Amino acid sequence: MKMNRFFLSISIVFLINFSLSAQLAINERVAALLSKMTLEEKIGQMNQYNGFWDFTGPSPDGGDAKVRYDHLRKGLVGSMLNVRGVKEVRSVQKIAVEESRLGIPLIFGFDLIHGYKTIFPIPLAEAASWDIEAIELSARLAAKEAAVAGINWTFAPMVDITRDARWGRVMEGAGEDPYLGSLVAAARVHGFQGEQLNSPFTIAATAKHFAAYGFAEAGRDYNTVDIGLNTLHNIVLPPFKATVDAGIKTVMNSFNDLNGIPATADTYLQRDILKGEWGFEGFVVSDWGSIREMIDHGYAKDRKHAGELAVLGGSDMDMESSIYINELETLLEENKISLTQIDDAVSRILKVKYELGLFDDPYLYCNEELEKQITGAQEIVNATLDVAKKSIVLLKNKNNILPLKKKGQKIGLIGPLAADKNSPLGNWRIAAENNTAISVLEGMQNYKDNELIHTQGVRLIEKVPAGFHEEVSINTHDKTGFEEAIELARKVDVVVMVLGEYGFQSGEGRSRTQLGLPGLQQELLEKVAQVNPNIVLVVMNGRPLILNWAAENIPALVEAWHLGTQSGNAIAQVLYGDYNPSGKLPMSFPRSVGQLPLYYNHKSTGRPGKEGEDPGSVFWSHYGDEKNSPLFPFGFGLSYTKFEYSKFKLSTNNLNPGGSIKASVEVKNTGAVKGKEVVQLYLQDPYASTTRPVKELKGFQMIELAPGESKLVSFTLSEADLKFFNANQKWIAEPGMFHVFIGSDSSIKEKRSFEFK
Ligand code: BGC
Repeated sequence: MKMNRFFLSISIVFLINFSLSAQLAINERVAALLSKMTLEEKIGQMNQYNGFWDFTGPSPDGGDAKVRYDHLRKGLVGSMLNVRGVKEVRSVQKIAVEESRLGIPLIFGFDLIHGYKTIFPIPLAEAASWDIEAIELSARLAAKEAAVAGINWTFAPMVDITRDARWGRVMEGAGEDPYLGSLVAAARVHGFQGEQLNSPFTIAATAKHFAAYGFAEAGRDYNTVDIGLNTLHNIVLPPFKATVDAGIKTVMNSFNDLNGIPATADTYLQRDILKGEWGFEGFVVSDWGSIREMIDHGYAKDRKHAGELAVLGGSDMDMESSIYINELETLLEENKISLTQIDDAVSRILKVKYELGLFDDPYLYCNEELEKQITGAQEIVNATLDVAKKSIVLLKNKNNILPLKKKGQKIGLIGPLAADKNSPLGNWRIAAENNTAISVLEGMQNYKDNELIHTQGVRLIEKVPAGFHEEVSINTHDKTGFEEAIELARKVDVVVMVLGEYGFQSGEGRSRTQLGLPGLQQELLEKVAQVNPNIVLVVMNGRPLILNWAAENIPALVEAWHLGTQSGNAIAQVLYGDYNPSGKLPMSFPRSVGQLPLYYNHKSTGRPGKEGEDPGSVFWSHYGDEKNSPLFPFGFGLSYTKFEYSKFKLSTNNLNPGGSIKASVEVKNTGAVKGKEVVQLYLQDPYASTTRPVKELKGFQMIELAPGESKLVSFTLSEADLKFFNANQKWIAEPGMFHVFIGSDSSIKEKRSFEFK
């Protein structure tokens, strides 16, 4: 990389330090630099400020720009977030590097949740692809587009397991399952960080939110979490562990308290497990203001006390609380915290900066040429389209109403989201331009041999919200478009209705208690169905919605999430059969909000009963007014073809420690078109020293079969697959019987058994 002319004017001290340490291994370079730092400068590295415009949370000091610039000059800032674009990043980096005493470069963080300018499907949607390579590529290209815009650190992946669709942040994660969640998490880390962290196209990743944020009570964001060690270790922590094993550089803690301790100060989580047992060598950043929020939690007496608790708890960097920068020096004087703790935090932060190559070239990520070349590049756009198609889940297709015929059809396209170019971008896409998604209308217009007539039918929202911060207000009264929609439906062969959530209805701070189609959409759907039953319902959303009526009365149901920039093209290609849907749900879709939390890997209970059979009394674990089962189970998704499973067998009925067992099944494409199937293997430990889930995903394979083709799919199981975190806090596999299920979703009943000795 060519040395920048600003870089040449870096203070002499920094140059000497730089050239001397260039030869040394990173740890030695860190130690050498640390020894030159004043206490104030050290604490400065632990301080992160927001860039002066996008606030993704409430700001403690109003984001006073003057104070922040002054701190940058004095070397009292280690990182900035939300500063982006080469021009901006360079100008802020320049202050830190050229004006501060030691010229330590800043690390620039940003929420690259599903793309930078070019928007990929929301993470929950991508998880529905079950295509780990496509997910890794999505992260890799998102990182590339952001890296050339000056970003070198993302606050992603979000790896919170979640079982409650009321929680708006389910859109950011990979759903309810720790096995799928771990694979997706690791893939994203590999994608973001690549093989070489100091390349100008890779960035440091963050596993968040550590931990158990996805278990916020009643699905209300920021709410209390109270779960036992059993759920924490078996369900919540595995995806985090997977990111550490994948070499993740940073971890973000979470807003919630966990069993009475705010995660930000949780020594068990951060010091004992993360930095201790797992050997994590990167640094922990707080969530936005989460250090200060410990006062509101009723855990810290005041700001100073909050700083003390956070440092002791293992939080290395303070995002937007301005507590470390103001309080740590006094805390140290009072011996409430130690210099060793500060040195450890600072070393971790500096180490990541070295690994990113920022000490060798602080402007590594600031190349305008690359920024121009790569932003919105075809390679990125193609990948978003590819993964968007793979993320779509076909939920129902009665009488093969889909795919649509390509010729001679009159199609009515109805619904508030049909021509929407903003909602498909979903939430968490602050660098993207508004209204830059391809709408379903535009996507369908590419198929020219049909007549396509569009009308909105009903407005979804009252007014366009200012963005990230504003509550979305839903239209609940204006039905003026109904008549036109009904008239249109009367005269067409097929109606495609595009309904669902507005783009900002899911995401942070977007918990909801009603999960039906928002506003007047359900009413419109029912009215349209009265005049034309040939309806294909395309649902756009950031979370599982309750679709009972549609599932019963509408012949075709397509789960299309918020799919990003290429949304409309992806949906149109699926509707017309140019892509045969292959997605599978990463979360159970409930029948009613009252069922939540709802997840396939639940425990059996002492009174499991049997749904659909008369148990003879009410005294079993159930609801009097609703089934226990979901409307659509985890792992479910149809195709335009059919797959038949047969010859399910195990290679042996006994497994010894150190040995392995092969479970195999033959899958045949019995339909008329080529298709992909995600073959899923679940395991049950029916009797153990702690109660175990009725089923746990332990493997899956995606296969593609031509019509008539069949394939033997086999999985190898070993002791490691049987292990769980037991009551004595050990990961063990216990001798006894195990059941194996292989099928196309988590509701599969047929099983084979073996004994582990
Ligand atoms: C969110 C984090 C995010 C941070 C910075 C917080 O409100 O919880 O996930 O990374 O803001 O934008």
